[in-house]
Amino acid sequence: MIVVRSPKKAHKICVNKKKKGKTIGFVPTMGALHKGHISLIKKCKDLCDFLVVSIFVNPTQFGPKEDFKAYPRDFKKDKKICEEQGVDLIFYPRVKDMYPEGFETYVEVEKLPQHLCGLFRPGHFRGVATVVLKLFNIIQPDVAVFGKKDYQQLRVIEKMVRDLNVPVKIVGGQTVREKDGLAMSSRNWYLNEDERKRATLLRKALLYGKKLLLQGRKPQVVKTEMRKILKKANGKIDYISICDRFTLDEIKEFKKDCLIAVAVKIGRARLIDNIEVEK
Ligand code: PAF
Repeated sequence: MIVVRSPKKAHKICVNKKKKGKTIGFVPTMGALHKGHISLIKKCKDLCDFLVVSIFVNPTQFGPKEDFKAYPRDFKKDKKICEEQGVDLIFYPRVKDMYPEGFETYVEVEKLPQHLCGLFRPGHFRGVATVVLKLFNIIQPDVAVFGKKDYQQLRVIEKMVRDLNVPVKIVGGQTVREKDGLAMSSRNWYLNEDERKRATLLRKALLYGKKLLLQGRKPQVVKTEMRKILKKANGKIDYISICDRFTLDEIKEFKKDCLIAVAVKIGRARLIDNIEVEK
């Protein structure tokens, strides 16, 4: 496994692999790797000949009051995990390499970010789309895997790739959960013991919401019932959404499928989770 910090060098290595007929698989991450990332890495490994993981805590996707500085970083541990998973190259750039002085070009997907997390994290998806396009340009992947826990992110990336004709296949990876249902996330690291227990209410609310929708209850009623559960988490509920899986527009009637998504701040951790519902 090689670790490369320079974008130019990483690009050169990947282009050479492609010239030799190898397909490049890519899993972009911000490090602090956990079982959720490992499942994305495993999925990607099956789809390519040369597997690249990037580790970069991207400053442009954090708001001024968000946790960019506090975001967990442990390169040694991440490197070990990547080695164990048979990753071929870790791309580990410095902020100054990704955003050199004078940087002023951003990617903006217009409508999708005006939903769910985008309403609470202005500029977040602009930062995500920008860094992901930069990473794609550097790594030149044939396939890239993104987790479905960050469902809106997956949809934003799919849209960007389609709209800007980026030649990469985007694949969604299933959310990995703790035994009690909590979705794996680097931000779970912020939770103390009591907060960690309360965090399980996200999954509980989602499962209950799904059950009610399938019983024929109206989305509005379902949201009210879910709110009752989430209130017990004693946090700040950012949103409870029942929406179209692609446009992320709220739905008034449940017809054949939809997404239920929630975001709740518990202590220092802003937690998100979702569930797809199909009749
Ligand atoms: O999901 C993440 O970890 C990040 O948003 C990503 C895709 C690596 C971009 O910084």
